[in-house]
Amino acid sequence: MTNRVVANGMPLLELRGISKSFGGVAALTDVDFTLRAGEIHGLVGENGAGKSTTMKIIAGVHSEYQGTMEIAGERMHFRSARDAKAAGIGMVHQELSIVRDLSVAENVLLGMQPVNRLGLIDYPAMVRIAGEQLKRLGIDVDPRQPIGMLPLGMQQLVEIARVLFSGARIIILDEPTSALSPPEVETLFAILRRVRDEGHSLVFISHFLDDILRVSDTVTIFRNGRRIETAPVPDIDKGWIIERMIGKGHEELEESYTGEIHLDSKPDAPVVMTTEGLTVAGVFEDVSLQVRGGEVLGIYGFMGSGQLELARALFGKLQLEQGTIRLDGQPVRLRNTAAARLAGLAFVPESRRSMLFHMEPVFKNVTIAILDRISRLWVKPSAERAIANQHVKSLQIRPPLVDRPLGTLSGGNQQKVALAKWLTYFPKVLLLSEPTRGMDVGAKDDVLKIVRSLRERGIGVVVVSTEPETVLSMADRILVMKRGRITKEFASEVVSKDRLLAAA
Ligand SMILES: Nc1ncnc2c1ncn2[C@@H]1O[C@H](COP(=O)(O)OP(=O)(O)OP(=O)(O)O)[C@@H](O)[C@H]1O
Ligand SMILES: [Mg+2]
Repeated sequence: MTNRVVANGMPLLELRGISKSFGGVAALTDVDFTLRAGEIHGLVGENGAGKSTTMKIIAGVHSEYQGTMEIAGERMHFRSARDAKAAGIGMVHQELSIVRDLSVAENVLLGMQPVNRLGLIDYPAMVRIAGEQLKRLGIDVDPRQPIGMLPLGMQQLVEIARVLFSGARIIILDEPTSALSPPEVETLFAILRRVRDEGHSLVFISHFLDDILRVSDTVTIFRNGRRIETAPVPDIDKGWIIERMIGKGHEELEESYTGEIHLDSKPDAPVVMTTEGLTVAGVFEDVSLQVRGGEVLGIYGFMGSGQLELARALFGKLQLEQGTIRLDGQPVRLRNTAAARLAGLAFVPESRRSMLFHMEPVFKNVTIAILDRISRLWVKPSAERAIANQHVKSLQIRPPLVDRPLGTLSGGNQQKVALAKWLTYFPKVLLLSEPTRGMDVGAKDDVLKIVRSLRERGIGVVVVSTEPETVLSMADRILVMKRGRITKEFASEVVSKDRLLAAA
């Protein structure tokens, strides 16, 4: 990039009149956006509002657009991500781009590995340099470890370390906290503040409005491909943001996310699932719980507490070493997922986006799960579309065009499609792992309504999550897991995020 110095607080990057369409459909309309030197700029907006697209223009991923971009007063038009990188722009994308088979050190120095006199990668130097960088950022991890072995949250921190190490002056983080536990979020925020104070400028995209308000100096709101407003943080609050994000009824939405929640547990409802002493050594131990029909049971814990694995075991995806599962009082052995399904269970995994077909139209992605259930016969495409349309409507998937290839939807909308696909089942017990990850406040509310309607049908719903907000907004009863064990139950009482965190 031009090495021109821009004083702190002055515009460093300016977009003017940016418009962008995909195949004739407008994604961005006349967007002006200013990033100032030395600020953390929070970006919020509904799923599909245009946040990622705008940042991908800055990062050189999209090079076809109208409008202009200036950096330090100089006109720029990147033709590739490489161009943008050379100009000092680094982006951590919504989807992780780490290379799982490589070590942490190799990932941190990706493309910049030091070489020795023979032109070979100097492994000891690499481990040392990466180790220093990680230490400086307060990330506690052995650089020699294969990255695939680390918990997802740690992988995400390593990826962020990589972008920072690349020497970027402008750093864009697209939903970096979705897989982080609260302590990891604190580590990340400390890193962001330090990097800002060293003079870098950052863009931070998130659907967690509390996080946005906590770490940003300035916030910009997008809606429908337009920039709606930009304001300094001390002047605004959550209600103000929500109102501009969705333009209506924020009081109602807000209530389900903050403050104290009264758990309305149903101790008299019939028990549909019981577990006794479930154990997979080193993952979770001695887990005994009950799921009632018509109840939403929340299981909360930090990343790595064993609750995600527990959900997989309840669906026969992970084999138990000890313990018993009963359904309607009868012991069942879940040798595999087919057995679990037959027994009346359904499971929506947290990694559901990887189970989608990006080149296939939206409707196919929704109906694939039910085709083998309805019949093995041929199903009319019109019937498939009708089913898909119904879900597209109830989850407000945007754009509501079931023939579009799935890969063209925004990240959050892909999440909604993935969820829709599984909501076509009506099982005895529905296991949902991170059901609203990556969704905006409005979409979360839509999912909440769907979960409630399933509960009204008498289905036992288990919501497993590392997000306190998700569990608090959905559950009638909450179990907390810590290091593989259930440590606390909250039932028929008032509970808040603080109390939940204190127990985890
Ligand atoms: N490669 C693409 N092809 C076609 N349409 C696209 C493509 N990428 C994005 N879009 C469309 O552009 C619009 C903006 O999407 P974008 O990914 O910027 O949203 P977002 O604000 O990042 O949402 P989310 O919070 O869900 O990640 C959406 O309507 C999306 O469907
Ligand atoms: Mg996005």
